[in-house]
Amino acid sequence: MPKVRFEPDGIEIEVKAGTTILEAAEQAGAQLGSACGGVCACATCHVYIAEGLESLSEMDECEEDSLDKAFDVRRNSRLACQAQVQTEGRTVVTISHASRQTFFDEHPELRER
Ligand code: FES
Repeated sequence: MPKVRFEPDGIEIEVKAGTTILEAAEQAGAQLGSACGGVCACATCHVYIAEGLESLSEMDECEEDSLDKAFDVRRNSRLACQAQVQTEGRTVVTISHASRQTFFDEHPELRER
């Protein structure tokens, strides 16, 4: 099964092919924001793919448009709610600073002190 590792949390999880990075984060308990609930409308699930970019689904037009709203977009940027893990192997995901901020806004009780 494909593996997804989340940084800076350092959590790794095995998922079924076709799972989105956001679904994997929820299963793993990684701190990744998702203000619109995963419908490609907010870009708060912005992540950087440190490893395994080629194992993800292609970026569609909706993801490209929403990613335009994110800060500090790089060549390895993806929206976690849209990118699906498709093949065996390991995908290493670095959660963007803005996405972690959103996560803590959504879950203030988990805010790091
Ligand atoms: S959660 Fe809103 S675009 Fe991914």
